[in-house]
Amino acid sequence: MFDYYIKAQTKCRCNLLSFQLFIHTRIIFSVKVARGSRTIRFTSMASLLDNTRELKTFVVDEGHGVKGLSELKIKSLPELFIQPIEKRLDMSKVVPYESIPVIDMSNSDDPKVGEAICDAAEKWGFFQIINHGVPLSIIDDVKDATYKFFMLPPEEKKKYLFKNSPTKNVRLVTSFIPEVDTVLEWKDYLSCFYVSDDEVNSFWPSVCRDQVLEYLKNSESLIKRLLEALIKRLDIPKLDDKNKAILMGSMRINLNYYPVCPNPELTVGVGGHSDVSTLTVLLQDETGGLYVRKLDSENWVHVPPIKGSLTINIGDALQIMSNGLYKSIEHHVVANGNKNRISVPIFVNPRPSDVIGPLAQVINRGEKALYKQVLYSDYVKHFYRKSHNGKDTIDFAKV
Ligand code: OGA
Ligand code: NI
Repeated sequence: MFDYYIKAQTKCRCNLLSFQLFIHTRIIFSVKVARGSRTIRFTSMASLLDNTRELKTFVVDEGHGVKGLSELKIKSLPELFIQPIEKRLDMSKVVPYESIPVIDMSNSDDPKVGEAICDAAEKWGFFQIINHGVPLSIIDDVKDATYKFFMLPPEEKKKYLFKNSPTKNVRLVTSFIPEVDTVLEWKDYLSCFYVSDDEVNSFWPSVCRDQVLEYLKNSESLIKRLLEALIKRLDIPKLDDKNKAILMGSMRINLNYYPVCPNPELTVGVGGHSDVSTLTVLLQDETGGLYVRKLDSENWVHVPPIKGSLTINIGDALQIMSNGLYKSIEHHVVANGNKNRISVPIFVNPRPSDVIGPLAQVINRGEKALYKQVLYSDYVKHFYRKSHNGKDTIDFAKV
C-alpha cells in the first residue's frame, strides 16, 4: 500500500478589505494494490477532523503534533481533545490574590535564604527564584532553540518520534502518553534524558542541542545550591558524592510547546499531575497558564511569569525521601486561545537504578516511615503507565 499525502495551502489576501482567506486542502490518495484491485480515497480537511483515528495519526504519528493542527486554523476543538469536565481546571477555584513565594537567591549562603527555600518547599512545594545565577542570555538561547525545534517541518520532527528515534533517550510526543490517553492533551514535547555529551552530540536535534546542553550545564550549580539548602532541614549537613547520586543522579530536560487552541476552556495543556522528580527547575515564557494547587486545599494559584525567573517545584521523589516534609504539589497548565506558549522543565532525578525511600537521617529522628523503599525506575514506569491523574502516582510508594 502506498500513501501519498498532498497538502495544498492557498492563501489569498485582499488588501482593500483586509480580508484573509485560507483554504487548506488535505488530499490523501491511498492507492491499495490488492489482488489486482485499486482504490483511490480522497479525504478533505473536514473529514480529517471528523475521523478521530485519522486525526490521531496526523497529530501523533506524522510529526505534525497539535502545533500542526493549530496551524490549520481550525475553528473548533475536535472531540479527541475535549476533556471531561473533572479534568479541566475549575476557574472558580482559582484564588487571585495569593501566589507562591518568590525567593531572591543572590545571597544563597545567607541562612535566611536557605530557610525561605525550606519553608516554601514545606508549605507550597512550589516557588519562584530570581537572581539565581543562570545567565539571561543562556535562558533566551534555550527559548529560541525550543522554537527552532518546533518550527522544523514535520518530516524532520518525525525522526524523533519514539518509533523512529534511534535512541530511547530522545523522543517527540504529543499529549502525555498518546498510547494511553483516551482524550489528548493540547501539548507537544521533546523529552531528552541526559546520558553523556557524546550522546547529546549523536542524538539530540542539532537545531537545539547546543543551547539545551548549555542551559543544563549552567543550571547545575543552582541545583546544587537548592539541594544543599533543602537537605539541611533533613539533618544532612552537605551534598556529598553519595547523597548527590540519589538526589540528582540523572537529568531529563523537556521542551514543551503549547500552541494556540481554538477552545482552550474545553481542554488542558497539561492535566493535573505532580512530577516524579527530586525537584524540577521550570523555565516558562511570558504567556502564563501554569496553576498550582494550594496545599491541602481545593484551590489553585497562578504562577505569574517573572522575566528571568525560574520556577522550582518539589517532586514525588523528594516528598518520599523527606518522608513527607517537602510537598510535591499537583499542577496544571491551561491551554491558551491567543498565544503559543513554551516551557522548559529540567527534571532533577535519582538514577533509575536507585532505591528510594525516606532517608535514614529523617527516620533516625524517630519519624515513622510513610513510604516504602521503591526502585526509582519502577516508580517512573508506574507514572508512565497511566494518564495524568492528580497526585495519585505517589500511592505506589505509600506504606
Ligand atoms: C511538566 C509541567 C509545566 C509548564 O512538564 O511536567 O508541569 O508550565 N510543565 O509547562
Ligand atoms: Ni509537571
